[in-house]
Amino acid sequence: MSAHRVAVIAGDGVGPEVVAQARRAVEATGVEIAWTELPWGSDHYHRTGRMMPADALATLRGHDAILLGAVGDPSVPDHISLWELLLALRQGLDLWANVRPAQLLPGVPGPLAGRAPGEVDMLFVRENTEGEYAGVGGRVHAGLAGETGIEVSVFTRPAVERVVRFAFERAEERRGRLTSATKSNASRYGYVLWDEVVAEVAADHPGVEVDSVLVDALAARMVRDPGSLDVVVASNLFGDVLTDLAAALQGGMGVAASASLAPGSDAPPLFEPVHGSAPDIAGRGVANPIGCLWSAQLMLEQLGEPEAAAALRAAIAAVCRQGPRTRDLGGTASTAEVGDAVVRAVEAAPVR
Ligand SMILES: NC(=O)c1ccc[n+]([C@@H]2O[C@H](COP(=O)([O-])OP(=O)(O)OC[C@H]3O[C@@H](n4cnc5c(N)ncnc54)[C@H](O)[C@@H]3O)[C@@H](O)[C@H]2O)c1
Repeated sequence: MSAHRVAVIAGDGVGPEVVAQARRAVEATGVEIAWTELPWGSDHYHRTGRMMPADALATLRGHDAILLGAVGDPSVPDHISLWELLLALRQGLDLWANVRPAQLLPGVPGPLAGRAPGEVDMLFVRENTEGEYAGVGGRVHAGLAGETGIEVSVFTRPAVERVVRFAFERAEERRGRLTSATKSNASRYGYVLWDEVVAEVAADHPGVEVDSVLVDALAARMVRDPGSLDVVVASNLFGDVLTDLAAALQGGMGVAASASLAPGSDAPPLFEPVHGSAPDIAGRGVANPIGCLWSAQLMLEQLGEPEAAAALRAAIAAVCRQGPRTRDLGGTASTAEVGDAVVRAVEAAPVR
């Protein structure tokens, strides 16, 4: 079988540190990958005035997947690094389903540690192309007392419907429960359309138990009663916020993984840890690579390598259970020591 072509955007800060470990672990599974390193990010911006080249999307389209570390540097305004790279990829490749598993693995400390095994096991499906992050708006009266910024949320029926359908399908594969996060009491248009679409799509999935919950109440429920949640579908902003909370509940930013997918299209899916470039710890070799390793595990699943994905998943779970652990999880190990342990665990149970 020919090698999978994976574009690597290691990016800024801790991005390259965690991506290096993810690559080693994927290689340890024996799956053949042709990696293309793309030196895009804040250094590229300082060199060229752009976060990535003008033909970046065309370059990426020649690949089967993208593995990304993180972008963002104190020397570049965040709205530039985000809009010119991350959001440009998600929107430009129409990667409309952002999928984030939030599972508390045994051995991982955190506010919900000690819960029954499997009790914290949610899957977030976030709309990834429009909503509150559509990029519609403007600024007027610059420098005057009445200076104004307008940010418009955009909810289109096709974009809401495809992500809601995708979420129902995931719920059917899991425990058959879907929770939709909205705020359709205070916001009367976009989220009301969202609720209507959820109700319509629910009719096609009678086996799925559905509830629509106001996002503020849902945040509280995630902490109080996480076992009542299976698949959660949310808009771009709500999904963004809720999944940081979910990350904290599963052990912290260093652990959480994500995939941005365009099911039914040939656009390369994007895999990245939920965390950012963590400038406060970058360059010290202490970043937790688990979120990136877990993202690489999601990548192996999407590349059609279920045995390798299962092996990497088992290795991640074993290392979380036994250690070594980085400081954010109460340990003293370096990024590379955790990566070494995951590689050893994969090699101890060879895939092929
Ligand atoms: N997907 C992305 O690339 C992405 C996501 C969020 C933020 N950002 C960017 O990253 C930069 C920093 O943002 P921030 O500080 O708000 O968020 P952040 O996720 O980088 O860091 C938040 C906190 O989590 C810790 N943390 C993050 N990753 C960790 C890891 N792997 N191991 C251990 N601890 C980890 C950090 O040390 C910090 O205390 C900004 O420029 C922001 O725009 C990028």
